[in-house]
Amino acid sequence: MPVVPTREILSRAFAERYGVAAFNVVNDLTMEAVLAAADELRAPVIIQTSVKHVKMTGIDAMYAIWMAYAPRTRVPVALHLDHCPEREVISACLAKGWNSVLFDASKLTVEENKRQCIEVVAEARRYGADVEGEIEGFKRTEEMTGSEAEQVQSLDTVVDFVKATNVDVFAPAIGNAHGTYKTAPKLDAQRVTDIVKATGVPVALHGGTGMSPEQFSDLIARGCAKVNISTALKIAFMKSGYDYMTAHPDQYDPPSIFTAQRTAVMDMARYHIRLFGSEGKAWT
Ligand code: 13P
Repeated sequence: MPVVPTREILSRAFAERYGVAAFNVVNDLTMEAVLAAADELRAPVIIQTSVKHVKMTGIDAMYAIWMAYAPRTRVPVALHLDHCPEREVISACLAKGWNSVLFDASKLTVEENKRQCIEVVAEARRYGADVEGEIEGFKRTEEMTGSEAEQVQSLDTVVDFVKATNVDVFAPAIGNAHGTYKTAPKLDAQRVTDIVKATGVPVALHGGTGMSPEQFSDLIARGCAKVNISTALKIAFMKSGYDYMTAHPDQYDPPSIFTAQRTAVMDMARYHIRLFGSEGKAWT
C-alpha cells in the first residue's frame, strides 16, 4: 500500500535533507499526472488539495479520485489539505482519510491559533493523521510590500507554538508568497535554520513557484523537507490547454487536449522532483 503517513514521508526527507514536492492539484487529470511522474521517478510525493477545490469537487468525489489513483502508485504518497481555516472542513477531510492538514489560523491571534491547533492535532491523531501549523500567513506575490520581514513572529513564539501544539511540520514566513514573483524573492534562509535547530521539526516551504534552483537547494539543506508547488502546476495545466487550442483551433476533441495537459503537468512535476533531490528516494 503506497499511501503512507505524511509524517513518514517528511521525516525521511528531513533526516536525509532532500525535499518532497507537495503539488496542489486541481482535478483528476492533474492528480493522476503528478502521481504518474512520481511513480516514474521513484519519488515520494505529497498531493495537496486546496479548500476551494475540495469544496468545488466535493469531499467524497475528491477522495474517490485519490482512491482511484493512489493505490496503484508504486511510491509512497500522502494526501494533504492545504491552508484550511475552517474546522468543519478539516474534520470532514480527516474523517474521510486525508493523511494531513494545514490548520491555517494565521488570521487569529497566536494564542487562539495555538489553542485550536492543539485540538486539531488531537483530532488528527485519532485518525493517524498529521498536522502542519502556521502563525504568520502568506501573502500573494502581488500584495508584497517589501516589509514582510518586520511582520514575522519571534523565534521564541515559534518554538512555543510548535512545542505546545506538537505539529509535525511548521510553515514559517521567510519572504515567500503564493503566485508568480515579479523579481526573485529575498528569502530569510537563516530563519529556517534557526527554527529547525530550535524545534527539531521539518519546515514546509510555501510559495515554491519561481524560486531559483540555488534557493531550493539551500533551503532544503537547512530543513525544508516539504516544498509546496501550486502556481507552476496551474500554469502548466492551463497554458498547455491554451497552446493546444491555439495550434488546433477547430479541433474540439477533449482527449487530445487532455493528453497535452497531462504531458505538461508531468514535465513540471519531473522538473521539481529532480530539483528537490527526491528522485529515487521511494522506499516501498
Ligand atoms: P506557489 O503557488 O507559489 O507555488 O505556492 C504554493 C503553496 O505554497 C501552496 O500552499
